[in-house]
Amino acid sequence: MQKAPRENWNTKIGFVFAAVGSAVGLGNIWRFPYLTAEYGGAAFVLVYIVLLILIGMPVMTAEFILGRGSGKSPVQALIQPGENNWSGLGYLFVITGLGILSYYSVIAGWTLRYSFESLSGVLLAVDPGDHFDQITTGTTSLMYHIFFMLLTTGIVLGGVRKGIEQSVKVLIPLLIALIAGLGIWASFQIGAVDGYRYYLQPDFSELISNYALYLPGIGHFSISFLSLGLLAGAAGQTFFTLSLGMGAMITYASYLPRKDDLIEKTFYVSFADFGIAFLSGLMIFPIIFSFGLIDRVGESPLGALFIAIPEAFQQVTTPIISQGLSFIFFFALLLAALTSAVSLLEVVTSSLMDELKMNRRVAAVSGGLACLVVGIPAAFSLDWLGMADKIAGSFLLLVGGLALAIYVGWIMKEPTVELSRGLKLKMFVKPWRFLLRYLAPLALLAILSNFVLNFIQELF
Ligand code: PHE
Repeated sequence: MQKAPRENWNTKIGFVFAAVGSAVGLGNIWRFPYLTAEYGGAAFVLVYIVLLILIGMPVMTAEFILGRGSGKSPVQALIQPGENNWSGLGYLFVITGLGILSYYSVIAGWTLRYSFESLSGVLLAVDPGDHFDQITTGTTSLMYHIFFMLLTTGIVLGGVRKGIEQSVKVLIPLLIALIAGLGIWASFQIGAVDGYRYYLQPDFSELISNYALYLPGIGHFSISFLSLGLLAGAAGQTFFTLSLGMGAMITYASYLPRKDDLIEKTFYVSFADFGIAFLSGLMIFPIIFSFGLIDRVGESPLGALFIAIPEAFQQVTTPIISQGLSFIFFFALLLAALTSAVSLLEVVTSSLMDELKMNRRVAAVSGGLACLVVGIPAAFSLDWLGMADKIAGSFLLLVGGLALAIYVGWIMKEPTVELSRGLKLKMFVKPWRFLLRYLAPLALLAILSNFVLNFIQELF
């Protein structure tokens, strides 16, 4: 029987735009600065860069291989007929995607609200810290969450070409222009230099932690070691921001033609993603420092962006300009979040289509509805939201990433055959294989065991 041809990207650059659209989102502009502040500044940035190159990029290439090689959604992509069946991992991806989208949509709802309130001027007349405290939880937060889920589901209903590819092509360049523009403005503020210093000058003592140990027969003692907490935060952020460890890149690569160079695509997507995160750090830290907001951020790291940006715009005295800038900023952020949310829902949708033989419409609506319901508690509690971000947005992604590295590195038959199709950058194959087989699993294992130990410690 002839198989119906699978939908493909419209243009060569369409895939890169869509993958960048998935990668660039709240992770770059909200989460990256928030974690950097939480873990003490530049030392975190440094570790994040190292992990991005040594672990994130190899895992991304692995996801591309799985997606393009199978041409299927994540659950099916993990089955090699007659060889291996790791479809259980695919189900974990679907659960992770659902878990992330459920609270991601709540935060994206805040950006939607901030866009409206910029236009009406409300946002520029309130105390940004108090305002953030008021709006983040409650029934209106829920309403915006519902609204955002409707938008996301609407795009996924439209399918790959019309929905995703077209919108991202316009949005990403617009977002970059805005962040850069704001960054230039921020650099002229008094005190901006302190922000750059915090962001760019690593305090290496942050990298080390003291661990108290107890060994029976020897007693209590303490050792200093690379801070596993910081490492875990940075690794979680790497996976989150690159959309790795939950099948989004598998799904998008499944629509990719055979002649493309997968390593080259990995470079494009990860550098674009890193560039935008780095740029938003260059914008936000000078703002935080020149307006003396670092303590505020310390009180609620989650709110760093939502407090610092309105505070900055309030300094612009011409209302129409401050309202306009604030609107454009939050609207662009909303759109960046939307293209990421779409990729999260696409994992759930394409899996439902392949597994339960649903059509796109039923699958997208069921997936959207599930995320909406699971996200309700996050709309009522910041603690819940933060916890969901740690569990689904860090822990589960790292578990998924570890399993992926093991599967493609050790179990899958001949991943390099698929990799070599269309490959121009041949000298990267060996280092890629080495990083995927040895470094990525070992590092992820160490980081995950720290997660588990912390969890146990918190329980008792
Ligand atoms: N990468 C997205 C962001 O940075 C979030 C995301 C995570 C999207 C995992 C898809 C999968 O906002």
